[in-house]
Parts: sequence; C-alpha cells; structure tokens
Amino acid sequence: MKTPVHTAIEPGILYFGTPVVLISSTNEDGSPNLAPMSSAFWLGWRAVLGLGARSKTARNLRRTGECVLNLPSDALAPAVDRLALTTGSDPVPPGKQERGYFHVADKFGRAGLTPVPSETVAPPRVAECPVAMEAVVSAVHPVADEDPAQRGGILAFEVRVQRVFVHDSIRLPGSDDHIDPDAWRPLIMSFQKLYGLGPQVHPSTLARIPERLYRGPDIDRAREIAPVR
Ligand SMILES: Cc1cc2nc3c(=O)[nH]c(=O)nc-3n(C[C@H](O)[C@H](O)[C@H](O)COP(=O)(O)O)c2cc1C
Repeated sequence: MKTPVHTAIEPGILYFGTPVVLISSTNEDGSPNLAPMSSAFWLGWRAVLGLGARSKTARNLRRTGECVLNLPSDALAPAVDRLALTTGSDPVPPGKQERGYFHVADKFGRAGLTPVPSETVAPPRVAECPVAMEAVVSAVHPVADEDPAQRGGILAFEVRVQRVFVHDSIRLPGSDDHIDPDAWRPLIMSFQKLYGLGPQVHPSTLARIPERLYRGPDIDRAREIAPVR
C-alpha cells in the first residue's frame, strides 16, 4: 500500500470535532443565560472551557463562579442550532455584530428547552439534556497571553464538577454509576457543523482499565457539598 502523503494547509479554524456543551450561567439580574460551546475537555471531575472573554457566559462565570455543563444528545441539534448567533450581551459586542449575532434575553425560550432548579449552584440545569453537571470555577487561565494583539480575548476556565445528573436512558443497565456509551449519543461540532457519533469502531484496549481506578478526590469532595435548595 502507498504511504499516505500530507499537504500543509492553513485552515481558519482547528475544530476537528468535540462534543457540544450548553453552559447555563446566571445574569446580573438573576435570570439564566444559556450558550453553546464545544472547546471543552475533561480531566477527572474537572473541565477546561475555552470561551471568548467578552461573551456573556465568560462574564457570568467570572462574576458568580458557577455554571451547569449540560450535554445535549444529537437529537437536540435543532434546539442547539436555535442558539447559534445569539448572545446574552446587550448591546451585542462589535466583533459579534459583524458576524450577524443578535441579543436574546430568554435563551431557554428561544431554544425551546426547560430550565430546572439545580441542587448546588444557582444556574438551572437543562431538563432535556441527558447529562447535566453542576460546577464551580476553580481557576481562570489567560489564552494567547504572550501575544499583545490577542491578549485578554480568550479565557480557559477550569471548573470543578459538584454533581453529575443523567437520564436513566443512558445508564448502563445493572450499574449505579456508569454511562452506557452505546446509549449516550453526544452532539459533535466539527468545523462549525453538527454531527452525531457512529457505532464503536474497534475494541478498546484502554477500556480494560476498570472505571473505578480513575476515581479521584474531587468525587469525595463533591459528596460533601450540601444542596443549597
Ligand atoms: C456549536 C457551537 C459551538 C461553539 N463553541 C464555542 C466555544 O467553544 N467557545 C466560545 O467562546 N464560543 C463558542 N461558540 C459561540 C458562542 O455560542 C457565542 O460566543 C455566544 O454568543 C455565547 O453566548 P453568550 O454571549 O450569551 O455567552 C459556539 C457556538 C456554537 C453554535
């Protein structure tokens, strides 16, 4: 077989495919904001979230230190898409105006999604999302800080998860704390477009490690946090 050859290219974005997260946060007046994002990765019971610093979500996270990370299934793509090009910021920041963004105060209403009260944080969970994780901000890291032209534009929020709520439909039958990856159908954003996942493509050697060996101290810490309502 011929060895494949690479070609150097300069794509405008490097969004090769990550799950969509709907972040709920709390506005100054106590109302909820809801925003789609996908620059997120997971480390134990923590997540790192890449957000434009001028987004309403980033401002809310800095002010309140709380959010819910709601994971939509691929079936919720139409609801997620209704939130595209919207912002909770009023007025709309100039950079976003150019790209066609518009202000929406009631993002839940626009998406057709249902807010339900959270247990440990003020922002609501999204009832329709099969996964909703209540989280608090533990650190805020600047991104591209070495470049004066980009400084202050992007932030990486490190958040610590306090509660993981899931629909029973994605739980592994016969287990308490396991997600069934064959039942969980995340919504994937790849180069601005929305996709689902195909079936498992190969047996996984990594999956031989029992999940319990990954359990870290943040899980015990989360258990100690009493519900606020
Ligand atoms: C599918 C999808 C993925 C997105 N991913 C991100 C992201 O990872 N980071 C980000 O800052 N914005 C992302 N955006 C754009 C935000 O949703 C946008 O900045 C929005 O205005 C934020 O809302 P807010 O200003 O009310 O917080 C994404 C949008 C969509 C539709």
